[in-house]
Amino acid sequence: MTPELMEAGARRLEARQLHAQLGKTESGGRQAGFSRIAKAGEVDVTHGRILYLEDVSVSFDGFKAINKLSLDIAPGELRCIIGPNGAGKTTMMDIITGKTRPDEGTVFFGSTIDLLRYTEPEIAQLGIGRKFQKPTVFEQLTVFENLELALKTNKGDERGVWASMFFRLDSTQGDRLAEVLHTIHLADSVGAQAGNLSHGQKQWLEIGMLLMQDPKLLLLDEPVAGMTDEETERTAELFLSLKGKHSLMVVEHDMSFINTISDIVTVLCDGAVLAQGTLAQVQADERVIEVYLGR
Ligand SMILES: Nc1ncnc2c1ncn2[C@@H]1O[C@H](COP(=O)(O)OP(=O)(O)OP(=O)(O)O)[C@@H](O)[C@H]1O
Ligand SMILES: [Mg+2]
Repeated sequence: MTPELMEAGARRLEARQLHAQLGKTESGGRQAGFSRIAKAGEVDVTHGRILYLEDVSVSFDGFKAINKLSLDIAPGELRCIIGPNGAGKTTMMDIITGKTRPDEGTVFFGSTIDLLRYTEPEIAQLGIGRKFQKPTVFEQLTVFENLELALKTNKGDERGVWASMFFRLDSTQGDRLAEVLHTIHLADSVGAQAGNLSHGQKQWLEIGMLLMQDPKLLLLDEPVAGMTDEETERTAELFLSLKGKHSLMVVEHDMSFINTISDIVTVLCDGAVLAQGTLAQVQADERVIEVYLGR
């Protein structure tokens, strides 16, 4: 058998193992077992929702960080989330990605995938990518190597990093990498060491690493914090170019950035939705002015 065939065989085996694993998942104290098994890359959006949260609550030491939160997002939508410090924005992302388990409520990805049945790495495999505020790229590796690695690894899975050292891109993956490089404006820096990039470029590289896995839904927590004005503008362009191809949930405090990219803005406060509408609508809402914008 040629090395290529062996590699392809190993990949198929990996895919089967993942599939088997996803089919018999038990997590969060709930029994898994669907009539319809969720496969990576397949999300049922026939009901017009890629993400659906209903009456979700979580308490930390008696403090309700999320309090009967209900929210949904349409496929291809770019949803902006704003709200005061401590409103529960990051905690909401922790719940969607399986980092935090809610005490009660419903969290669905499409109409058939109950995210509360899955672990954090499984949720990433299902097609939900998350970007934390601080860039976490491999500083010693080049831009190219970071993107290549992202194709094979799941963040947080150390074994994945080692497995991917023995991995070579096929032509489709090579094309994808080239496309992502262009999207994140780093085509000219493909050979640069990631540690030498600017803060903004590192953020774009990390977004690129998420894009390599072709996520259906991308969660971005304060993506332009610490960026220069020019970097912020380019990030706005980047997000607008992703809209439609991916669904995005963007948490930001930078109102001019929100103004550039937003369609619907959801205002979170005390762990629940306070207001929702266009930026102009929520900016005119007395309750929003009082708790957030009027500061
Ligand atoms: N693991 C945890 N243990 C205890 N309290 C927590 C935990 N995670 C979040 N909290 C609390 O829950 C509340 C919501 O925090 P969260 O980080 O979600 O707010 P946020 O809206 O993201 O705020 P910011 O705009 O400052 O990032 C805060 O009061 C925070 O202290
Ligand atoms: Mg936060």
